[in-house]
Amino acid sequence: MRTSLFAAVMILSMPAAARASPDLPLLPMPATVTSQAGSFSFARATMAADDGGGMAAARRLADLVARTGGPKLALAKGGTIRFRRDASIKGEEAYRLRVTAAGVTVSASTDGGLYYGATTLWQLIAASRDGRIGAVTIDDAPAFAWRGVMLDSARHFQPPAYVKQLIDRLAMEKLNVLQWHLTDDQGWRIEIDRYPRLTAVGAWRQPAGAAGVDPATGKPVRYGGFYTKAEIREIVAYAAARHVTIVPEIDMPGHATAAIAAYPALGSTATPPKAPSSDWGVMYNLYNTDDATFTFLTNVLDEVLDLFPSRYVHVGGDEAVKDQWKADPRMQARIKALGLKDEEQLQGWFMARIGEYLQKRGRRLVGWDEILAGKVPPSATVMSWHGVSGAIAAAKAGHDTILSPSPDFYLDHIQSDSGDEPPGRGGVMDWKHIYTFDPLPAALSADERRYLLGVQVNLWTEHVRTTAYADRMLWPRAAALAELAWTPAAKRDWKGFAARLPAEFARYRPLGFGYNMTPLEPLASVDGEGGKITVKLRQQADVGTLRYTTDGSAPTAASQVYDDALTLPEGTRLRARAFAGGDPLGIGRDWTLTAALLRMRTVAEMDLCTAAVSLRLEDDGATDGVRRVHWGDIFHPCWIWKRAPLDGIASLSADVGQVPFNFSIGADLAKVKFDKPRTPTGELEVRLDRCDGPVVASIPLGAATRNSGVSTITGSLSPQQGRHDLCMTFTQTGPDPLWMLDRLTLGPAQ
Ligand code: ACM
Repeated sequence: MRTSLFAAVMILSMPAAARASPDLPLLPMPATVTSQAGSFSFARATMAADDGGGMAAARRLADLVARTGGPKLALAKGGTIRFRRDASIKGEEAYRLRVTAAGVTVSASTDGGLYYGATTLWQLIAASRDGRIGAVTIDDAPAFAWRGVMLDSARHFQPPAYVKQLIDRLAMEKLNVLQWHLTDDQGWRIEIDRYPRLTAVGAWRQPAGAAGVDPATGKPVRYGGFYTKAEIREIVAYAAARHVTIVPEIDMPGHATAAIAAYPALGSTATPPKAPSSDWGVMYNLYNTDDATFTFLTNVLDEVLDLFPSRYVHVGGDEAVKDQWKADPRMQARIKALGLKDEEQLQGWFMARIGEYLQKRGRRLVGWDEILAGKVPPSATVMSWHGVSGAIAAAKAGHDTILSPSPDFYLDHIQSDSGDEPPGRGGVMDWKHIYTFDPLPAALSADERRYLLGVQVNLWTEHVRTTAYADRMLWPRAAALAELAWTPAAKRDWKGFAARLPAEFARYRPLGFGYNMTPLEPLASVDGEGGKITVKLRQQADVGTLRYTTDGSAPTAASQVYDDALTLPEGTRLRARAFAGGDPLGIGRDWTLTAALLRMRTVAEMDLCTAAVSLRLEDDGATDGVRRVHWGDIFHPCWIWKRAPLDGIASLSADVGQVPFNFSIGADLAKVKFDKPRTPTGELEVRLDRCDGPVVASIPLGAATRNSGVSTITGSLSPQQGRHDLCMTFTQTGPDPLWMLDRLTLGPAQ
């Protein structure tokens, strides 16, 4: 109490000029911002530039301002928004932005700096409500040179227009690397003239489950796609104009199923795959180490280098399980001939050979941190995905390195506990988690930290079937990464970032850009007895202020602020929504607090019994249509309703569905065990108090087995008194398809 009073007195007694001004609505926050008196009117401004780089920056400014509803800005002699070359501004991407009442000057020594200055100016203009922006001097440069996003186009293919839109968005956040994951077990996405089967065969797969068969013809569905060379050239040029480098990734020696399906001689098995895989997980297929395979790989890389001017080329190196090499006499002979110890060393030799080749071609190899096992050239750059340990080992060994730690920067993880999240991996990586990640591992000395090129988030797309899902997984988490990558550590603070996010969302809207609003929604936990219902609200994003009403009206910026649990009479309608200033955030939620509400739970409101591989998974409905999303641990589908109110309960109904079990999990498959069905179709079983407790309900799946969508099944539950934990599992003979519970509703005797 005394401390906070003291703090308040301090603030009140500070001179006005020293008072912290609210942050400008900029993202990423620039290195230094000094606000001044006065303002500049941009409503009728024109632009002038010294040279081609300045003109490009001016055109970008005009384009962004127009697309976000601002005035048309044209180039004209004597323009008051000036783009100036200034050799005294040091740094490849540094710029100075000076706004005075008389005009605006963007200065930089490089085209990139001018471009980023234009981007910052756009954000100031986009946030203005009166056609004026405040006088300010901004001196800015990035904390890290590599500010990356990885897009996996192999697991699901995104159309070229989406890739371009993503690049445009990256540039708006001052992100400058798109790592493009173009090949994997599930698809080969880049046209290679010399090897047409890579795309003729390798770009297409049959989706798993019911979605894999065309219901009209009964024939297998052909699913996939690839980027033609013309499309890639256009995308690369589009990125270059936005100061984004595309780093192509051609994964080897693992993640090679699609390539081996196209050219079986590349494989290391007598039974090569016939088609790209429709499973997720780690596959066994590796390239062999024959000289002919290196000829293939270097021929492919020649065409890749021709398309992508990037100094960096990613060649994977991750998750190459060695079973096939162990079993292949040719690989064993190679190990012997090379005087190597084992298959790990063989991979080291493999990556080194590719690294030397790239070095000869004037490029630098980037690989996942597994490449540290071999003797890659000193110029090789290590992408750390085993947490930050790969980066620590790399920097200590004198390699440049990039932090893209799993699970922290893996955007295939969900970002809230809501049942409305898109499909993805369990283990919530929320916005704050990404924003507050420390990109300077303490284990590295100041000298070693010089090897840290930067940071990158990775969007793996096993569960990201649509571009709408991709946008929701990426944004605004990639914007959090952008600030982590750009803004100096001393200027980063979560509260400030959260306060600037609404302005970011306001920029997305006129641009038509998708993002995930779900973490902005209020989540409720409800409990009650004797006609009173207690509701606890929370919002995972921790952005804005939760407000609510209990009179049925829509919450507004003036509604009551939620700050503690509410106890309300039965029948109350509770509506809640987050607000930032006067503006609503995300979407609101609405509950009618009845006794029936207390007797119903979705699985998002239950606990998972285990979390070995918990996933929000789509069912196998239409390939391009809407699908139901289920939530469970695929190793052990089992859900717990804690303290279910069982007085007067004698029946239940359950919404259940199925997902295809298309997971390549090797020997772990033996760990996926089920209780045996008691009836031919299997059952939903409910146990009391513990998951090995007595069965209190056993409901045959019956007709639900013939419905590939969600079914409701009902049955009796042996009467109990008071509150008990309920544990739900399914009996089944094998894992495919996997039964999933969606929702459970308790009822009286039927
Ligand atoms: C990876 O996640 N396999 C790099």
